Amino acid sequence: MSDTRKSKSPDLSRRSLLKAGLAAGAVAGTAGAARAGGDPLITEIQDWNRYLGDGVQSRPYGTPSEFEAHVVRRDVEWLTASTESSVNFTPLHELDGIITPNGLCFERHHGGIAEIDPASHRLMINGLVDTPLVFTMEDLKRFPRENRIYFLECAANSGMEWRGSQLNGCQYTHGMVHCVMYTGVPLKLLLEEAGIKTSAKWIMPEGADASAMTRSIPLEKALDDCLVAFKMNGEALRPEQGYPLRLVVPGWEGNMWVKWLRRLEVGDEPWHQREETSKYTDLMETGKARRFTWVMDAKSVITTPSPQAPVSHGKGPLVISGVAWSGNGRIKRVDVSIDGGRNWKTARIDGPSLPKALHRFYLDIDWDGSDLLLQSRAMDENGFYQPSKNELRAARGENSIYHNNGIQTWHVKADGTVENVEVS
Ligand code: MTE
Ligand code: CO
Repeated sequence: MSDTRKSKSPDLSRRSLLKAGLAAGAVAGTAGAARAGGDPLITEIQDWNRYLGDGVQSRPYGTPSEFEAHVVRRDVEWLTASTESSVNFTPLHELDGIITPNGLCFERHHGGIAEIDPASHRLMINGLVDTPLVFTMEDLKRFPRENRIYFLECAANSGMEWRGSQLNGCQYTHGMVHCVMYTGVPLKLLLEEAGIKTSAKWIMPEGADASAMTRSIPLEKALDDCLVAFKMNGEALRPEQGYPLRLVVPGWEGNMWVKWLRRLEVGDEPWHQREETSKYTDLMETGKARRFTWVMDAKSVITTPSPQAPVSHGKGPLVISGVAWSGNGRIKRVDVSIDGGRNWKTARIDGPSLPKALHRFYLDIDWDGSDLLLQSRAMDENGFYQPSKNELRAARGENSIYHNNGIQTWHVKADGTVENVEVS
């Protein structure tokens, strides 16, 4: 795409030119090739065109092209003291659509990755039930199962950005989110199998990893849309994501989605575990902490352009793209501003619009090459708007880490480089 080209759809015109060149070349040999403009990638036969490639089964489990080797999860070394209790981030700036590939889903572990032979894995249901039960993986796969697409966002996503812009890239500022299709058994069916006593009000999932992660979840949510999942995007869960079994708690903070799920206790009150008292509560300005802030509210971020995905092509047609999500349901609208929130345009949502799943949005602009202050603002189907960071701080003070869904700003400079800034 050159600066001077005025065509509205340069890609299309380029493609038709190319097609015409190739067709002519086939008939008229080198004359046709010369008409394609003398580009050696058109005029010369390349190795991959000349020699046979690898045969089937050379890659029994397929991996991305070697030219995509930079598309990986990344961590920030100074964030945590050890890698076993740490986090890495989804490369959002390299992805499109709404599904996160399994190998790129961010990881958050509190005691490292448990490596579990599914034949040795058990799920126990105990507490306020008629019949305590222990399931094998085989048992679980005999219950009716469902397929559903959900985002998972860690409550700490964007936590470093509370006081101002910190990390240079949406992978780091917003990459504690992923969205996959889960296959699993509705938790309701398993609880019904055990028989819930009338006094029961809460459940407590527990992980089989070294951190033995535990959280309290209201029974109402457990009976509503939670899944006990064994597959993601059609294949077995990855060890990093809780193989062989994890809890799916749609729309609620990632910490509750217990991985390597081994036990569900049914009780009549919350357990007040570490992860819902000293952690995953929000310290307010008064010194008091909010607790049980389960839902991940409406949020969005522009993934390209962004600091790790600068504009390399100069002015002219520019695809602005990003993701939006809400733990309260579907995203109804995403507005995008190129001038730091003064003016807004409604973006185009493309692909499936599913409740509690990522939504993909686009705004296609003709960039005049001047500085841009890019922002996106999501609205969910309940009319809930993503707040500015100032609005968020006015409501919640400056002590918070978790649940930062404030509007993100990227400064696109005339040379195409992009920086994390705050305008609110
Ligand atoms: N479950 C267990 N057993 N152990 C853990 O450390 N981390 C939690 C949750 N479930 C955790 C866990 C946190 S804080 C988050 S954000 C999600 O898992 C991360 O899920 P992911 O690693 O699949 O992205
Ligand atoms: Co988390």
